[in-house]
Amino acid sequence: AKGAAMVTAVAQRLASQRKEIDDTLAAFALDSTQLQEVKKKMHVELERGLKKDSHPTASVKMLPTYVYRTPDGTERGKYLALDLGGTNFRVLVVKIRTGMRNSVRMYNKIYAIPLEIMQGTGEELFDHIVQCISDFLDYMGIKNTRLPLGFTFSFPCSQTGIDKGDLVCWTKGFKATDCEGYDIVDMLREAIKRRNEFDLDIVAIVNDTVGTMMTCAYEDPKCQIGLIAGTGSNVCYMEEMKNIEFVEGDEGQMCINTEWGGFGENDNIEDIRTRYDREVDEGSLNAGKQRFEKMTSGMYLGEIVRQILIDLTKRGLLFRGRITERLKTKGIFETKFLSQIESDRLALLQVRCILQHLGLDSTCDDSIIVKEVCGAVSRRAAQLCGAGMAAVVDKIRENRGLEHLEITVGVDGTLYKLHPHFSTILKDTVRELAPNCKVDFILSEDGSGKGAALITAVARQHHMAENE
Ligand code: GLC
Repeated sequence: AKGAAMVTAVAQRLASQRKEIDDTLAAFALDSTQLQEVKKKMHVELERGLKKDSHPTASVKMLPTYVYRTPDGTERGKYLALDLGGTNFRVLVVKIRTGMRNSVRMYNKIYAIPLEIMQGTGEELFDHIVQCISDFLDYMGIKNTRLPLGFTFSFPCSQTGIDKGDLVCWTKGFKATDCEGYDIVDMLREAIKRRNEFDLDIVAIVNDTVGTMMTCAYEDPKCQIGLIAGTGSNVCYMEEMKNIEFVEGDEGQMCINTEWGGFGENDNIEDIRTRYDREVDEGSLNAGKQRFEKMTSGMYLGEIVRQILIDLTKRGLLFRGRITERLKTKGIFETKFLSQIESDRLALLQVRCILQHLGLDSTCDDSIIVKEVCGAVSRRAAQLCGAGMAAVVDKIRENRGLEHLEITVGVDGTLYKLHPHFSTILKDTVRELAPNCKVDFILSEDGSGKGAALITAVARQHHMAENE
């Protein structure tokens, strides 16, 4: 009888632990009504960002890009492209030729940006960039050619022209001083002058979403949206000029960089944020900012997972109740680990191996729980992106007065490309929330490099046409 009582006690404890875990993860399960609500709120914020009065303070910044059209296939030339915005910095030469398929050729070199430079002074950052360019030009043997340059700079820039952009604020892992509020193109020009070794003709400053859209549009003219689901999260799309109140002119279209990562900064999605989201926010470089990005992008998903695991451990539900130094270490769950842990092809033993590799000793039960936590966090991220995307495509459909819209989204980013479920959940959510739109997603191949060159080409044609 004693044995039976003990078995019952253990069973009860397991059931109550199970319930605690389920309750914790339930906060991450968004139902259709909640997702509809997110879509609606995103729609409101897109509108607010476009209106003259609300634009300056909008949480979704809706920045003009001065890109008036997608490529039409007549672009050509040889360009230099820079790509800054992830952990690496890249310099590329891009050759675009007409009349052939696959007519873009690229050569590139990758340079690391050390943390102390990402978070040092602006001058140091730009001197480092120019030093990398110098190395690349030497390497390619083109120091005296003065190629036109497109600069993919994946941060919010308030642009007044295709080659003028003031950095609004750093996002993701960057925090160099004396850059916010300054023109990034000027900063680059000055750094080139300081080095006094070569000259460049800077034609365009480009957000990575825009580069991605342009690259995909080069292959598919129906592509009028660019999405990044990677370290950061952001979308751009072709908007009607007449709706962009703070830019002169009513004819035609312009690409808008939404900077939807800032969604939520006006406290309008507090109902779906959890205490774990708040902990991640508070421990970040930009507390209070980019709240949507912090729920949807690769740089933060692992951190949300880590906060949940710490809490479950403290409550004795995981890792035998022991909080290790490893678990307290920021950034241990990179996107690639989340992707591996959630892969259906992986046996639990392999999940345990990954955790072991991360320095976390787990039992079999632990590995099941960790996998569930990862699933809940990444599922919510994909659904939120889907809800945001549904707002964007429905806005475009309404702009054009259409019953039904067919449109293509060009996508880049490790979360979208590597994660086993993210893209499927994202697409399912868009289908459910925007039933009047048929949305195709195509992967961009090197949107940042190719896109910067294409935009530079389009900008020069535009410039020449205006001067004719
Ligand atoms: C961040 C940046 C944004 C960029 C995105 C993806 O959200 O603010 O400009 O497009 O990351 O890299």
